[in-house]
Amino acid sequence: MSLLVRGAHQVVTPIGSTARRGHELSDIRVLPGAVVRCDDETITFVGSEEEHDRSFDSADTTIDAMGGCVLPGFVDPHTHPVWAGSREAEFDRRLKGESYMDIARSGGGINATVRATRAALPQELLATTLARFDTFLAYGTTTIEAKSGYGLNLETESRMLEVLATADDQHPITVHRTCLAAHEVPPEHRADPEEWVRLLVDEIHPEIARRGLAEAVDVFCETGVFDLEQTRRLLTDARDYGWRIHLHADELTPLGGAELAVEFGALSADHLLCVTPEGISALSGSETVAVLLPGTAFFLRQDYAPARDLIEAGCAVALATDCNPGSSPTESMPMILALATLGMGMSVAEAVTAATLNGAAAIGRAHEQGSLEIGKRADLIVLDSPTYQNLVYHFGVNPVRNVVKNGQEVIREGRPVAAESTG
Ligand code: NIG
Ligand code: FE
Repeated sequence: MSLLVRGAHQVVTPIGSTARRGHELSDIRVLPGAVVRCDDETITFVGSEEEHDRSFDSADTTIDAMGGCVLPGFVDPHTHPVWAGSREAEFDRRLKGESYMDIARSGGGINATVRATRAALPQELLATTLARFDTFLAYGTTTIEAKSGYGLNLETESRMLEVLATADDQHPITVHRTCLAAHEVPPEHRADPEEWVRLLVDEIHPEIARRGLAEAVDVFCETGVFDLEQTRRLLTDARDYGWRIHLHADELTPLGGAELAVEFGALSADHLLCVTPEGISALSGSETVAVLLPGTAFFLRQDYAPARDLIEAGCAVALATDCNPGSSPTESMPMILALATLGMGMSVAEAVTAATLNGAAAIGRAHEQGSLEIGKRADLIVLDSPTYQNLVYHFGVNPVRNVVKNGQEVIREGRPVAAESTG
């Protein structure tokens, strides 16, 4: 099956098969009037229509971009999309001045979602997860990293990862699965958190690895959750399991999570609202991608991560939603790009690279995803407006008109085309 996307005002993409760092983030290619051809699941041509017509037969299917802008599908490298229940009551409390951690310590927060998620039937979890996947896709996201972390016991952590595997099979979105059993200390271990760390290291992580339920591991390294020494113990065996590492680092307090992520050769250090100059310097000399989640700073009303400092220091910066019920309940990457530019001072070009190629790098997939180049996976979006700046300029609405995943049109005029699996 071949597909030609023509009629674009411009085709816009970062270039490369590794993360762009520092000033390279703004170096995107803008091709006026270009076309993109996909054969089966792969991009086979990007360039002028005349050149395409000289070299290729006509395609089986054509998408008319109608003067819109064509971009790579977003790669969202940090999400928590499997959960039951809702926490809007906490939202009200936070608006009145209570902090995220105060609420967590009074029985709300992550453990409130754990109670609801443990009680949910697998088919309920799958249905709500697939509904969230539909929203991700409609807003232009074609690949996500997705974490467990609302089970906090072997049974429900496994169930969450199984739900993600099923959703990956049933839905066009590609999923990189991460075990975040070390998301919080569950109430039954609050009296002895060390016992919970031992259980994670000796039983839960090995069993999840043995069953092949995850490709990566993550830990919420934070004051009052897992300290540096506990996080080090939690990550030490992970590499032996073949797991890649992500880390919730320096989110609410400057613990030194960024430096620890670098020490472990992590794929990504995420959040970084409170990263120190030492943390920035460690990241800049490493392959670890700094994944920034401005939706979380916005929603928790905290200062944004120092995106400009990270970029000026030469770091590889990516953007993600952090989609979760407590600190960033959104699936919208266009919203995240708006916050990255207006809140963190990134240029639109930098934000585009951070949300595509660098997102792919943060999950170890930049060689196959994240840019519109020959040989990459045919994942792209068409905006309803002519230039890439409109992605952010026309904020708060969905600018995505068409989505192509693995060479098939899955969203047309903002609506799902067919419930066909391309997972
Ligand atoms: O990334 N920091 C820890 N985990 C999430 C919040 C999860 C929740 O509140 O349910 C985060 O912000
Ligand atoms: Fe998170």
